[in-house]
Amino acid sequence: MEVLLPKLPSPSYCRSITTRTTSRVRAGFRRLSYLHVRASTVNQEVAEPTLSSPSLGHTTRPHFPILHQEVNGSKLVYIDNAATSQKPAAVVKALQDYYEGYNSNVHRGIHYLSAKATDEYESARRKVAAFINASDSREIVFTRNATEAINLVAYSWGLSNLKQGDEIVLTVAEHHSAIVPWQLVAQKVGAVLKFVNLNQDEIPDIDKLKEVLSKKTKIVAVHHVSNVLASVLPIRDIAHWAHGVGAKVLVDACQSVPHMVVDVQNLDADFLVASSHKMCGPTGIGFLYGKMDLLSSMPPFLGGGEMISDVYLDHSTYAEPPSRFVNFFFFNSSIPYLKNDIHWLGWRSQV
Ligand SMILES: Cc1ncc(COP(=O)(O)O)c(C=O)c1O
Repeated sequence: MEVLLPKLPSPSYCRSITTRTTSRVRAGFRRLSYLHVRASTVNQEVAEPTLSSPSLGHTTRPHFPILHQEVNGSKLVYIDNAATSQKPAAVVKALQDYYEGYNSNVHRGIHYLSAKATDEYESARRKVAAFINASDSREIVFTRNATEAINLVAYSWGLSNLKQGDEIVLTVAEHHSAIVPWQLVAQKVGAVLKFVNLNQDEIPDIDKLKEVLSKKTKIVAVHHVSNVLASVLPIRDIAHWAHGVGAKVLVDACQSVPHMVVDVQNLDADFLVASSHKMCGPTGIGFLYGKMDLLSSMPPFLGGGEMISDVYLDHSTYAEPPSRFVNFFFFNSSIPYLKNDIHWLGWRSQV
């Protein structure tokens, strides 16, 4: 049977989400309460609103220059953060600081500006690692966005590890960016996509997900928080089940990292992806987390400058991860941004 995946949630679906935002705990899932999560995880300096204290919106609004405008005679209200978030002034200033202060090539120059840009770049990598509790900052690979990070895993890990008849487990609620790369790679190697449907609560059926896992399963690629359903998947359990059959787990954390503490070691995720533009940061930068032994075993994804060790006329040798996967001159300016948006989100005081 041919199943067409929805492009956008229908208006009635949107209504069903908004009318059910209270947290519900069921075997294997939670539906995210945005009200609760926003209030409890945005910037630690912002107190949870009470009847007598100003609202979260009231306290947060001054930080966002774009909200200082009126539309049709009213203050602009923006609630499309799952698609892309607005940027606080601190993040906007980071870009200006970069171009006015130390615009130069990272890891390539021996002059002052290049050294400063390289320091900032590497300190941003350490910050991202601390933010998701990676044990080693080399496990963080900067990408253009989450889509590129998923494609990196699908093509680099997938093409080297998947063969005819192997199974890739996804849910029908994955973002298209998290489905299509696996379709492309599955077509190339003859692997099979196994989709887990929604249950009667309209969230991915976790019991079915557990049932579908077998020795044929090579990777489970699922969201942490769904952009359409707001379901929160029990990643730690899923990783435990997947590892039990020898499969890897890729977590699409685009919608979770902006709202909740995400700890890759605790989740035992093999790969995890996220995107700056949903984290109060700029477009054009995202990251892939991968366990070091996995990244080390993977071939390059895109050829180019920084990913090489030596270049000969007929072949090249490749750098160690994370450089092996990076062509980064084009996003130099975005890196300090990313560092700042994490700082701004900063609900982890150690970050
Ligand atoms: C759950 C999820 N995964 C992946 C993506 C793709 O993210 P990016 O725009 O960084 O490629 C999105 C963007 O909407 C998303 O919500």
